[in-house]
Amino acid sequence: MKILVTGGAGLVGSHTAEYYAKKGDEVIALDNLMRSNLFGYNKESVEFNWNYLAQFDNIKRIKGDVREESDVMKALGNGVDAVIHTAGQPGVPLSMKIPKEDFSINAYGTLNVLECVRKTCPKAAFVYCSTNKIYGENVDQISLEEEETRYVYKSKKGVSEELSVDLTGHTPYGASKYTGDIYTQEYGHMYGMKTAVFRMSCIYGTRQFGFEDQGWVAWFVIANLTGQDIIIYGDGKQVRDLLYVDDLVEAYDKFINSDIKHDVFNIGGGPRNTTSLLEFIGLVEQKTGIKFRKIEHKSWRPSDQKVYISDISKVSKALGWKPGITVEKGLEKLIEWVGANNKFFI
Ligand SMILES: NC(=O)c1ccc[n+]([C@@H]2O[C@H](COP(=O)([O-])OP(=O)(O)OC[C@H]3O[C@@H](n4cnc5c(N)ncnc54)[C@H](O)[C@@H]3O)[C@@H](O)[C@H]2O)c1
Repeated sequence: MKILVTGGAGLVGSHTAEYYAKKGDEVIALDNLMRSNLFGYNKESVEFNWNYLAQFDNIKRIKGDVREESDVMKALGNGVDAVIHTAGQPGVPLSMKIPKEDFSINAYGTLNVLECVRKTCPKAAFVYCSTNKIYGENVDQISLEEEETRYVYKSKKGVSEELSVDLTGHTPYGASKYTGDIYTQEYGHMYGMKTAVFRMSCIYGTRQFGFEDQGWVAWFVIANLTGQDIIIYGDGKQVRDLLYVDDLVEAYDKFINSDIKHDVFNIGGGPRNTTSLLEFIGLVEQKTGIKFRKIEHKSWRPSDQKVYISDISKVSKALGWKPGITVEKGLEKLIEWVGANNKFFI
């Protein structure tokens, strides 16, 4: 198979590229390495992942922008069998500061890639990395109960694809990602392309350069191991379902190899892989044996969902998939990786 991975230097993209390279497929990774610039991050970030991919002879790396037709066309060449579109501006707080750039990357960039695929290889499978943020504050209509270390849903296991995405606040990030989401669906409906929208909750894994504004799971581990302070926005009882990145890539692959024409899936660790911030802090301290240097508390961030747990029954049934890596196992892998690479974080 020949596969284009956009955002190939990112967390999801680099793991996707590695997965297919190891299977012996021909991979093209497209990335303009803008993550470091976007976040004004002066330490090594996507460059690490970009260089990591160089070890695979069957990954061709192309520096280019998903918003540039010529760059995407160059990456597609005579056509590919699948496109996994992970390139994006993934930061919620950043989207509030730079809404136009956020839109151009997440919304226009996605439309541009879809259109290039339609022109070049309309039979290719197309995977879009959407997000739980497209449901916005509607998630907060679900009744909650407060327990000692977390909020819990009163009578629900998780959020299904049926929840309304309308008539609520989303943040610019939620809005731009939803634009990409709806266009991906449209290219399935209107042009008959094989498309999947994966509405992802919290994805984490090795080679995740998390920091305070994006990638909190990795950030907490990095901060713990390198003695940096963390801030909790809100009371720390907010809950997320965590999905280890390798499990996510497996679901993409199952879709690509399925007979499904086009669909939308909520995906995350599901009800068995949840944690609150407070619980996660405790787990990190227990696994590393190191106390966080300082934990500061600040007020809630706009549109921060108190509990988001994916209902993964649709994706599990459609693709015969379930998460294989527990939060504890995934955290151990992350701790090992950060520990071995902590020179990048100090
Ligand atoms: N990580 C999560 O928890 C999560 C959850 C839900 C959705 N998502 C979505 O999944 C996707 C991947 O997330 P990630 O965590 O791997 O993010 P990431 O920042 O690690 O990777 C994104 C990559 O896209 C690249 N990129 C950005 N703009 C580009 C452009 N214009 N042209 C080419 N490349 C560009 C960046 O340089 C980076 O390498 C994003 O679209 C994000 O919105 C992520």
